[in-house]
Amino acid sequence: MLEIKLKIAEKIVEKLKTINADVALEAADVASMLEYPPDSKMGDLALPCFKMSRTLRMAPVKIAATIAEDFDSPCVARAEALNGYFNIFLDGQALCAKVVGEVKKKGEKYGAPDFGEGKTVVLDYSSPNVAKPFHIGHLGTTVIGHSLKKLHEFAGYKCVGINYLGDWGTQFGKLIVAYRSWGNKELIEEGGIDKLVELYVKFHEEAEKNPELNDMARAEFKKLEEKDEENIALWQWFVEISLAEYKKTYAQLGIEFDSYKGESFYTDKMPAQVEKLREMGLMKIDDGASIVDLEEYGMPPCLILKRDGSTLYPTRDIAAAVYRKQTYDFDKAIYVTSAGQSLHFAQWFKVVELMGYDWYDKLVHVPYGTVSINGEKLATRTGNVILLRDLFALAIEKISGIMNEKNPNLENKEKIAEEIGVGAVVFYYLSNNRIRDINFIMDDALNFDGNTGPYVQYTYARTCSVLSKAEDFGGCDTLKVTAPEEAELAKVLARFEENVRDAIDTYEPSVITRYILDVAGAYNRFYHNCTILGAEDAEVKSTRLALTAATKTVLGNAFGLICLAKTEKV
Ligand code: ARG
Repeated sequence: MLEIKLKIAEKIVEKLKTINADVALEAADVASMLEYPPDSKMGDLALPCFKMSRTLRMAPVKIAATIAEDFDSPCVARAEALNGYFNIFLDGQALCAKVVGEVKKKGEKYGAPDFGEGKTVVLDYSSPNVAKPFHIGHLGTTVIGHSLKKLHEFAGYKCVGINYLGDWGTQFGKLIVAYRSWGNKELIEEGGIDKLVELYVKFHEEAEKNPELNDMARAEFKKLEEKDEENIALWQWFVEISLAEYKKTYAQLGIEFDSYKGESFYTDKMPAQVEKLREMGLMKIDDGASIVDLEEYGMPPCLILKRDGSTLYPTRDIAAAVYRKQTYDFDKAIYVTSAGQSLHFAQWFKVVELMGYDWYDKLVHVPYGTVSINGEKLATRTGNVILLRDLFALAIEKISGIMNEKNPNLENKEKIAEEIGVGAVVFYYLSNNRIRDINFIMDDALNFDGNTGPYVQYTYARTCSVLSKAEDFGGCDTLKVTAPEEAELAKVLARFEENVRDAIDTYEPSVITRYILDVAGAYNRFYHNCTILGAEDAEVKSTRLALTAATKTVLGNAFGLICLAKTEKV
């Protein structure tokens, strides 16, 4: 559609020049002013002429009328002026031919912008805290982060996905004490991360009664910092066990990271940055702690060192950013966390700027809202939190039940139930604007008839099924468009790249989920109203198959952007 818009815009600029030869508008400007009218009776595209009215010294109604006079452009069937709008109706036949041809030619690249070519993006996401539960709060950072990675890759960026594991801090002192007091090797080997979390919880319970435990924990962490062999070995083991568990969840989502350099990795990289802050006179001592005063910028101070000289969360983030800039020379560094951390990021981004790092403006924080869960209570052995693993397991179990009723003889049932169950959770989550708080309702997420993951995955499987039944279909050169649903579908397919651009510009995967729903809706209307395999006219049939093939490609490409599996049979 971008190309069509540009062609139309070129024609419009020609017309505007007849009104005023000095008109400074470029075709690209006009193209970006073209809107999609809410009601297709008003046209497929429209140019509001109100803003130009002042510069052109002409009433909007007259501008629209001037443009509309003898207007013609490829893919345009007719155009008219109405109430200050210039309304454009596209030619269904020409549009279908163009879209089908392009999708076929570009395949997996269809819809991909190329503005990321030659550039690098580093994405910091998921980043759970070792030995603490990987819970539903991490769903956002994990799937939004991964979608943003996929979107950027699609646009040509080289992407580095970093899991900044919370693998350092006083919690390890606690865990070591708890392990030695109440745990043993076999227990952890069998129980994995759940046992670690249990030990951690027990530590807190016991420390309430016996505060001395806290001193012991501090001492053990100190030993760890001093590289005590035994403690280091335990710590490494705890990290491995946790990571093995996270990787199961990542595998269900099809996520792989390029780096697992967690917080511990930056321990020896902080002193240089602290020194730089000191030399530049940016640090102040406040009640014994070292801070960077940010009052001037309307923020509370950024804490760099505690009274005892130990480093803090921002200190580590600053050191990590410097390291990543040196290592990857990024053009953009994206951090995906809950909105609760927005101030933290604003503060240390500012400190990086004050330190004179000229790449400070390449740091982007992408926040998201909270998740709560309604309805069914999920049983976890770890208190009130709901583990991501259990949420996925419940979704998979429910989908299995539905599938056993719907299609009991399906091959590969387990794998498909997993793809649809996990997909349902992801799609439901990503359907919302990321910053909004979400109330998760499992039955809504799993409904095959709603605006859900199962519904769109089912639609994808439908395109596969239609195409598999038309084995002799080898593509279609001349299209014969006969039904309005065909043109409507082509119009939606044509808008893919614009949506991809929008999703990247706004760091908003929900643009893609909404777009997928538009495609699925248009395809299902087409499917129900147009006979495909049974069409009598051979050209009509091949046109419909070609549109089905194009839909399959577009849905598949879009699924790839939001961690949704391309399930061929449901
Ligand atoms: N581990 C942190 C948490 O769970 C998130 C880390 C986010 N990334 C960062 N560079 N600060 O809250």
